[in-house]
Amino acid sequence: MKIASVKGFHDVLPGDSARWAWLETRARDLFARYHFAEIRIPIVERTELFARSIGDTTDIVEKEMYSFVDRDGTSLTLRPEGTAGVVRAYVEHALWQKEPVSKLFYFGPMFRRERPQKGRLRQFHQMGAEVLGRDDPAIDAEVLMLLHDLLLACEIHHFTIELNSLGDANCRPAYREAVRAYGETHRSQLCDNCQRRLERNPLRLLDCKVPTCAALMAQAPVMEAFWCSSCREHFAAVRQALDHARIPYVLAPRIVRGLDYYVRTAFEVKAEGLGAQNAVGGGGRYDGLVKSLDGPDVPGIGFALGVERMLLALGIAVDEQLALAPEIFLAPLGAESEAHVLVLAHRWRNEGLKVELGAAARSLKSQMRQADKSGAPFVLIVGEAELESRAATVRDMLRKRDYPRAVAFDWSAGQVRQYLASLGEVATPQGHALAERTR
Ligand code: HAM
Repeated sequence: MKIASVKGFHDVLPGDSARWAWLETRARDLFARYHFAEIRIPIVERTELFARSIGDTTDIVEKEMYSFVDRDGTSLTLRPEGTAGVVRAYVEHALWQKEPVSKLFYFGPMFRRERPQKGRLRQFHQMGAEVLGRDDPAIDAEVLMLLHDLLLACEIHHFTIELNSLGDANCRPAYREAVRAYGETHRSQLCDNCQRRLERNPLRLLDCKVPTCAALMAQAPVMEAFWCSSCREHFAAVRQALDHARIPYVLAPRIVRGLDYYVRTAFEVKAEGLGAQNAVGGGGRYDGLVKSLDGPDVPGIGFALGVERMLLALGIAVDEQLALAPEIFLAPLGAESEAHVLVLAHRWRNEGLKVELGAAARSLKSQMRQADKSGAPFVLIVGEAELESRAATVRDMLRKRDYPRAVAFDWSAGQVRQYLASLGEVATPQGHALAERTR
């Protein structure tokens, strides 16, 4: 029996992987401009890290984690998200002693045992950013600005940032109680899960996707009415900074997020074209998390974007920018020319040319089919006559024209490229003559 991949765990095949790499390059470039540094953390952590940070009563910890007991009896878990691990590393390596503010980003696979569907996998990938060491509203605005610019840099243009403030340890307990009381009066209409959560974590009710619960909770009290003055001021300042910088957002007074570590600023990003799983990213402030993981009282804020969902939301325009095709395809005819083109390809590749190589064991016709599939605009054919004159015949794949023995073997990659470009611009017999003359 053939062995298949595990449900919810996907391969990324060539073609698609180029889009992944493209996305990562764009993101890295932007992270660098915002002066964020990469952190690479393990995929496996101690289970208690997630239980303590994300929260015992969240869906993630209650039912979605891949946990196992290691041979020495330690309970380990495949990370369901990146923030907990980043904070664990921050504490473990005392990064606050090395720099007052840490601005970190990461890429990588995350694991949640959810029901797979479009845009929802069990192994998915995030790109995330975390800032530790600042609690002023300006950094909240800067992080949201980064999130906004990151989506644009990745050619995702149709998205909405939904913004809320969840209050803090000061004012949230009263809100929590108000939501609990509201839920209690409608207990019979709630799903089993929500009835269970009512005592332990009533704010989770606001996140329930069951339609009857969602409809009911749309009328629930909002946090805004409970904000203490410092939370109110903080949120007003974040909004003002965003308005000033013309970063668009909408207020979403009932966003609570699916993880328990958030305080104050919290947000989600919805993108078009994703279907039911339309949250492409989310994040917020998590003052208190570092301390709860036995570090100092350092505030934090960050976000993560789902890479698979970003790829679903990308325009097709991106494929054109990928420029996957080789610049030339070298087609050897016969064993002797094969040895020659191998050397040519080696030299030109080292000089920066993108070269694909055919195999002499295949007919010219079959090599041409292969070249066509590769998308190379030019094929350089090397047969006996070409070996003799030490110059390859060029076939212009687009215009279906041949230029016999036009590219000398001793040309540099730059000369080859220049000559081929001149064919592209003036692909007429005169143009070719011009190219001949300038050789
Ligand atoms: P999150 O909202 O749980 O936040 O996940 C962020 C993003 O990861 C989601 O918006 C979604 O695009 C993607 N995602 C989550 N689950 C799946 C899945 N099963 N399949 C595909 N994509 C998925 C966090 O993880 C926080 N750590 C974000 C954060 C960073 N907050 C502060 N700093």
